[in-house]
Amino acid sequence: MNDIKRMADIKIAVETDDLVPAALELAKQTGLELCKDSKSCSMDNADGDIIISVTEYPESPGYRLELRQAGKGAPGPVAAEFVAGTARHRRLYGGGRNQPLARAIGMKSGVNPRVLDATAGLGKDAFVLASLGCRVDLIERSPIIHVLLENGLQRAATDPATKKIVSERMQLIFADTIQYLKDLNIQRLPDVIYMDPMYPGRTKSALVKKEMRLFKSVIGSDIDADELLHAALNSPVKRVVVKRPRQAPNIGGLEPFTMIQTKNTRYDIYIRH
Ligand SMILES: C[S@@+](CC[C@H](N)C(=O)[O-])C[C@H]1O[C@@H](n2cnc3c(N)ncnc32)[C@H](O)[C@@H]1O
Repeated sequence: MNDIKRMADIKIAVETDDLVPAALELAKQTGLELCKDSKSCSMDNADGDIIISVTEYPESPGYRLELRQAGKGAPGPVAAEFVAGTARHRRLYGGGRNQPLARAIGMKSGVNPRVLDATAGLGKDAFVLASLGCRVDLIERSPIIHVLLENGLQRAATDPATKKIVSERMQLIFADTIQYLKDLNIQRLPDVIYMDPMYPGRTKSALVKKEMRLFKSVIGSDIDADELLHAALNSPVKRVVVKRPRQAPNIGGLEPFTMIQTKNTRYDIYIRH
C-alpha cells in the first residue's frame, strides 16, 4: 500500500483567477493545499505527484475538477464526465438494455432494478444504468474520488441532456459500503448490489491504464474486496453482481450462480435464495 499518495501530497491547482473561489471552497472541503496553477504545482512537486485542477471545460457547464499527474509528459487528466466524451457517446449510441452490464444487473423490458453501486469510482457504470432508467445509489469512500464524482454529477445536473438522469435517478453517498450495508435502511433496499473493485493486476487498454495508474496512486488497490462481497451477500439484497477482468479469479474464491462474459470483462452474478 506504500504506493498510495498521502492526502497532504495532493495539491489543488486553480487554472484561472475566476475559479479561485471554487478552488478555495474545494480546499476547505478536502483540507488540501492550494497552489497557483498546474504549471507551478508541477514545478513545486516532483514528477509523479498528483494534482486536482479546477478548470474551465468548454463542453460542459460550470468548472471541472481534473485529477492529473504533475510533471512533463504526464498522461492527460481524469475527470467524472457525464455530459461530453465517451459518456455522451455511450448514452446516445451504446447497446441499450441489451448490453452486458444491463443484463447482468437483471434489466428486462419494463424492469428497471434499483441498484446500489458499492464502488462508485468515477460513476461511469452507474451513469449507464441510470441512463437506461435505473435508480442508482452510488457509494464512494475515497474523499478525492468522491469530490471528482460530485463535481461531475453537479455539472450534469445543469445540462438539459443529462439533468433528468442525474437529478432524478443518481444519488451519491460518501461512505464505506461495508459499513453502509451493516446499517442498510430498509426503505432504501436495492434490488441489486453492483461492485467493481480495483483489481491489482495489469490491463491492456491505454485509457484504462492511465485511469487505473492515477486511481492506484490515490487509493491503492481495493484489498478488502472479499470483505465487501461478504457484506453484500449477507445483506437482505437478492442479487449481487461483481465486475472482474475476464481472466481474474472469483473474489474470495466464491463461485457465482452464473456469469456474463465479454471480450475483456466478466460479470459474476450471485443470487441469494
Ligand atoms: C475500479 S473503481 C470503480 C469504477 C466504476 N465502476 C466506474 O464505472 O467508474 C473502484 C472504486 O470503488 C471504491 N471502493 C472500493 N471499495 C469500496 C468500499 N468498501 N466502499 C466504498 N467505495 C469503495 C474505490 O475507492 C474506487 O473509487
